[in-house]
Amino acid sequence: MKTRARFYLPYFFLFLAAPCTVRAQAAVEYRERAATEHSWPQHAVRVAHGMVATDEELASKAGVEILEKGGNAVDAAVATGFALAVVEPAAGNIGGGGFMLVRLADGRTSFLDYREVAPGKATRDMYLDANGQLIPQASTVGYRSVAVPGTVAGLTLALKTYGTMKLADVMAPAIRLAEEGFPVSEKLAREFAEERAGLQRFSESRRIFLKNGQMYQVGEIFRQPELAATLKRIAKNGAAEFYSGETAHTIAREMTGMGGLITLDDLANYKPKIREALHADYEADGHAWEVITSPPPSSGGVAVIESLNMLQGIPLKGWSDAESIHMVAEVMRRAFADRAAYLADPDYNKVPVAGLISPCYAKDLDATIDPEHASSSKVIHAGEPHVCGAAASGSAPGAVSLNDGPHTTHFSVVDAAGNAVASTYTLNNSYGSHVTTSAGFFLNDEMDDFTSQPGAPNALFGLIQSAANEISPGHRPLSSMTPTMLVRDGKLSFVTGSPGGPGIISAVLLSVVNWMRLGMPAQAAINAPRFHHQWMPDKIFLEPGISAEVEEKLKAMGYTTARRGHIGLVNAIGIDPLTGERLGAADPRDNGSAVGY
Ligand code: DON
Repeated sequence: MKTRARFYLPYFFLFLAAPCTVRAQAAVEYRERAATEHSWPQHAVRVAHGMVATDEELASKAGVEILEKGGNAVDAAVATGFALAVVEPAAGNIGGGGFMLVRLADGRTSFLDYREVAPGKATRDMYLDANGQLIPQASTVGYRSVAVPGTVAGLTLALKTYGTMKLADVMAPAIRLAEEGFPVSEKLAREFAEERAGLQRFSESRRIFLKNGQMYQVGEIFRQPELAATLKRIAKNGAAEFYSGETAHTIAREMTGMGGLITLDDLANYKPKIREALHADYEADGHAWEVITSPPPSSGGVAVIESLNMLQGIPLKGWSDAESIHMVAEVMRRAFADRAAYLADPDYNKVPVAGLISPCYAKDLDATIDPEHASSSKVIHAGEPHVCGAAASGSAPGAVSLNDGPHTTHFSVVDAAGNAVASTYTLNNSYGSHVTTSAGFFLNDEMDDFTSQPGAPNALFGLIQSAANEISPGHRPLSSMTPTMLVRDGKLSFVTGSPGGPGIISAVLLSVVNWMRLGMPAQAAINAPRFHHQWMPDKIFLEPGISAEVEEKLKAMGYTTARRGHIGLVNAIGIDPLTGERLGAADPRDNGSAVGY
């Protein structure tokens, strides 16, 4: 097994105090910190057979354990998903939801949507006060912010549909990690401390994760017996345990007691969906590329394809070149304006996907970009998407409001046969609603991804969204999560995805551009500095790796700039086109760890 522990220099001396482990340290999304690129790995982990790239080494190892036992990429991904629920409680979960993109070695693709849904008793204005104003934290903290979780249904459906192993076998590493425990990393101890105020408001969160206020120390063994028991019941009884068994009864009882909305019926009615992935073809560097990405209720795949289409005729030199950043930022601005207006749950809205991802529509949008000056988001609004040969039909839905926030996690898996999985799942905010059930796991606050208050920013991210994304029972809130894959000349080439709220879309887009358009090696494609523009607010966010000189040039073009510690955490796997080797490129901005064999 080949693995790499990553270093985050300022914390290096703290690691020395931690027994058993040398771990990279990093932070939840949006933390400001010094540039540490000099300590980042320059090369991907290169192996011949299978690779798992995640935020946590123990989770990557759990996936590889399953691959080495003969499991395929889906078996390993399911094992990894359950393991992350144990070792990365801020984002890994069984109380949240997400998306999984699968590409089998024979070329078949599938998209599993295990996004949460609004409970039956949810109402459009449930987070507003009598004056129509958003009640602070109502949609982000506590029992009423929780949407019906999808993760257990999604992971078990993936296993049943594409896996080869038994649920109990792929869950074994997670159960072991929960039961026997693992050493608390500096990252975990720091995150618990940072979240103390929120976590201590809920008795089970305080008891399990804050040790009743005594707090876990780095290196201390962290055991989660309640979670282990829940995972064992799921391993034995399948998803039914979570949706109608003891776990369901625990969730429903605690919801009733604490003013939450989720009922036994909501849980029993939850259904994950298998959807068609989005596909788009490009020529770059003399090769035929296919981009396979996430359909609605993800907004990300549409935005990534729309952006790649706009970028097709635009030369790009890299991210020390202000003009290249400008052109990509203008493309992001337009894709995010469309996201705000058009994207929502496709089961309840007519999302004009074909028009949005049409190359002819991209040409119209390109014509509005000034190569020398920044546009203003006051002037740029959602466009009129149309397919080639058809006129634009009508305009965007009217009211839009601002929304998006801090932790989610992405994992990528490729097996020896060439099957691949990209999955991003989340509790939304770090530690979700901050509520822990007595069954030992956090519940999400995904309700905040709906448009809670038309015309005003939602609590976490500040993205504009339309009334099409308003709260309604059974609806899925719009997401930015964008698991994506690239195929080059018919062969799997790159598996990618990221957390980061709306920054997900920019981080995934840049990883794709770095690999497909700029031809960067795998690790360089992940290390390269990132930037993000989401239309509103009208600002370009720059990572520390974008130079001050480039920032000045961007300002001179008319941009308002803002610095951000990091944008996204991309855990990707590239395939060496010459040797077929798997190139694990985990994100050094966090604990990212690529492990293979
Ligand atoms: O689905 C979404 O778009 C958000 N719930 C994701 C949140 C997120 O990525 C926070 N993380 N860094």
